[in-house]
Amino acid sequence: MDKFRGRVALVTGAASGIGRGLAEHCADVGMRVVVADVDAAGLAETARRVEAAGAQVLAVPTDVRREEQVRALADSAEERFGLPHLLFNNAGVLTTGLSWECSAEEWEWVFDVNVMGVVHGIRTFVPRMLARGEPARVVNTASVGAFIVGPRVAPYVASKFAVAALSESLYYELRDLGAPVRVSVLCPGAVATGIGRSERVRPEEVRPGPRSPESATYREAFEAGIARGIDSRELARQAFDGIREDRFWILPDSSFLPAMEHRMRCVLEGREPGSD
Ligand SMILES: NC(=O)c1ccc[n+]([C@@H]2O[C@H](COP(=O)([O-])OP(=O)(O)OC[C@H]3O[C@@H](n4cnc5c(N)ncnc54)[C@H](O)[C@@H]3O)[C@@H](O)[C@H]2O)c1
Repeated sequence: MDKFRGRVALVTGAASGIGRGLAEHCADVGMRVVVADVDAAGLAETARRVEAAGAQVLAVPTDVRREEQVRALADSAEERFGLPHLLFNNAGVLTTGLSWECSAEEWEWVFDVNVMGVVHGIRTFVPRMLARGEPARVVNTASVGAFIVGPRVAPYVASKFAVAALSESLYYELRDLGAPVRVSVLCPGAVATGIGRSERVRPEEVRPGPRSPESATYREAFEAGIARGIDSRELARQAFDGIREDRFWILPDSSFLPAMEHRMRCVLEGREPGSD
């Protein structure tokens, strides 16, 4: 039986980058697609592309930081297509700079979107999926930054460690229930998206702290690295390979594995981070 055709997918952060790639791939495999984002214009463009690929689509402007908006999103999705079989908690933002340069408001913003956005998705959809009792999967987007750490990205990597950890806890909870609901954590490497320009969707009330020239230079280098990343459509294909294989950890970029191993060795051997 085709696992995806005619089923329902819901993607947050679907107005750009990986979310758009996932939504388009969902259309390609014959799913009906619900797309959500704070960026209404980008969301409309994604909906247009999904429709052009021949899929039915519902676009719901949603701020994943707000639980009531995520609940309203779920209600709209259920009313139109039914409860999703595949839920991508994907919306995310990035800020770079030294830990003490990032304002408390920036820290909160990154955690509200990257962590609480995923939490709201889980709290809203998982009980409904369990009540339905059919196979379903929650895919939370973390990052290789959930395993390896560098300077000037503290809010981001801390939020991604949290996403990986809460997903793993959810895995055990669902396994212990014997539930047909599964969870995966998607950990991309570099993907060419808008993540390096997240300030375009930063709420006005979030005032950034002043950055040193070195942090500004770091940011440029970071953005250039992201721009050299793989295409988001390719990442979506890799994510679906992981889903088909029923994998919890979906880590498409194996070039990061040695760095992950090295970090864990430093932990196990009590050595300084990054030491040889
Ligand atoms: N691009 C990469 O190299 C990379 C690597 C690892 C993980 N990721 C993760 O992939 C996910 C998608 O990011 P991307 O790289 O496609 O970046 P992107 O900026 O292109 O897309 C992120 C989307 O999230 C949306 N968004 C931001 N705040 C939101 C909110 N409060 N509510 C709803 N939507 C919101 C944005 O409007 C945007 O459309 C993120 O979780 C990111 O951390 C990206």
